[in-house]
Amino acid sequence: MTDQANPPAVKKLFIKTYGCQMNVYDSQRMAEAMGAEGYVLTEDQAQADMVLLNTCHIREKAAEKLYSDLGRLKPLKAERPDLKIGVAGCVAQAEGEEIVRRMPLVDLVVGPQTYHRLPAMVRGEAPAILTDFPSEDKFDHLPQRRATRRAPAAFLTVQEGCDKFCAFCVVPYTRGAEVSRPVDRILREARDLVERGVREITLLGQNVNGWHGAGTDGDWGFGRLIRALARIPGLDRIRYTTSHPNDMSDDLIDAHRDIPQLMPYLHLPVQSGSDRILRAMNRKHTAAEYLRLIDRIRAARPDILLTSDFIVGFPGETDQDHADTLRLVAEVGFGTAFSFKYSPRPGTPAYDRPEVDGAVADQRLQELQALLTKQQKAAQEGMVGRRLGVLFEKPGRQAGQMIGKSDYLHSVFVEAPDAQVGDLVQVRIVESASNSLRGELAA
Ligand code: SAH
Ligand code: SF4
Ligand code: F3S
Repeated sequence: MTDQANPPAVKKLFIKTYGCQMNVYDSQRMAEAMGAEGYVLTEDQAQADMVLLNTCHIREKAAEKLYSDLGRLKPLKAERPDLKIGVAGCVAQAEGEEIVRRMPLVDLVVGPQTYHRLPAMVRGEAPAILTDFPSEDKFDHLPQRRATRRAPAAFLTVQEGCDKFCAFCVVPYTRGAEVSRPVDRILREARDLVERGVREITLLGQNVNGWHGAGTDGDWGFGRLIRALARIPGLDRIRYTTSHPNDMSDDLIDAHRDIPQLMPYLHLPVQSGSDRILRAMNRKHTAAEYLRLIDRIRAARPDILLTSDFIVGFPGETDQDHADTLRLVAEVGFGTAFSFKYSPRPGTPAYDRPEVDGAVADQRLQELQALLTKQQKAAQEGMVGRRLGVLFEKPGRQAGQMIGKSDYLHSVFVEAPDAQVGDLVQVRIVESASNSLRGELAA
């Protein structure tokens, strides 16, 4: 019973998040949903009443992390059998009850489209394994956003799932079909965040620029959504990720020219610079089309910093294909990029295709990463001497120091003894370090 004389005991929830930013967002929403059940977040797994692992299935190594982490939880569960262990996210979706068969210490398995039911599952009022794609919208059943800690930059998922079916990728299977959230819900969530002190919102989706919805006057594309968000007073910065090249509409490119709040940064995965491999991957564009698109984006916003994702060693990749990738990278000049060795994923079209020799793929990955690292260094050094906006997100380790993000998403360390988290200041960049910049407050 819960009455005022006997408030429910506070229970502690530990969440570990693997994978992409959408999982980070989902973890926040699950924490909020469990908050309504009396759970507060803890950073100390040993103290937790419930451990929730929000998992990623994108590459084999990512998925295997779940099982090693579950193995490490065995002694804790043996000591405290009432400890609840839940598995959420894309491994939960892909493997379902197989997880419990392999690791019987798991109490709950919940997929990315059903986590609004997590509280009911914990109460024993819903099945312990839920991985369907329900027709109801989970966002309509989740509590309103709450600030769990003061953070001036927030994520907001506007689009989920993917219909692109790239030959290597699990996302269409783990996250389901592409769904765009309605305009009014997105604007409401953004306003709620801004009222709670958020000044920067990153719009999220596996294909975020494929977002579309019914607006006040007909069908809106993603550029239109950004224009509407830019009218919210107090929302100083807008970003979005991840985009597909084929969904970069003219309107979105124009938004990069017209909307000062839209930061000059774009993550636009290309995966390969070889037309043969792009076709085998089912990416549906050529290297030349990607390059032309980059030209148009740079014409709209000349200072934009571009980043990307690459896969090396995709089945059938030859030395020539790899050379084509290096050439594309050299031509574009990326601010930074993620590059991965191809990992065959069960259930995807490329799974059974003959693999490239592992040592050859390793060598190619090294070459690509060496070039990308050089470009990252050049991009960062190009910031030295420039005056940039920096939004302070947390205090640094040294007294008086703040850490924030520049317009171009670089981490910037600044001596700013009088500043607070959430201040958006002008900074002169004075130094480039390996993965960050140092700046001084500009007059
Ligand atoms: N929706 C985004 C990316 C989703 S996954 C897009 O379309 O670009 C993030 C990145 O993981 C991908 O861009 C790809 O580079 C990488 N990735 C996906 N599946 C992979 C696999 N099977 N092996 C290696 N890398 C993979
Ligand atoms: Fe995966 Fe391709 Fe969809 Fe991106 S666009 S999520 S890589 S299937
Ligand atoms: Fe991983 Fe799922 Fe994101 S597979 S990358 S957590 S959508």
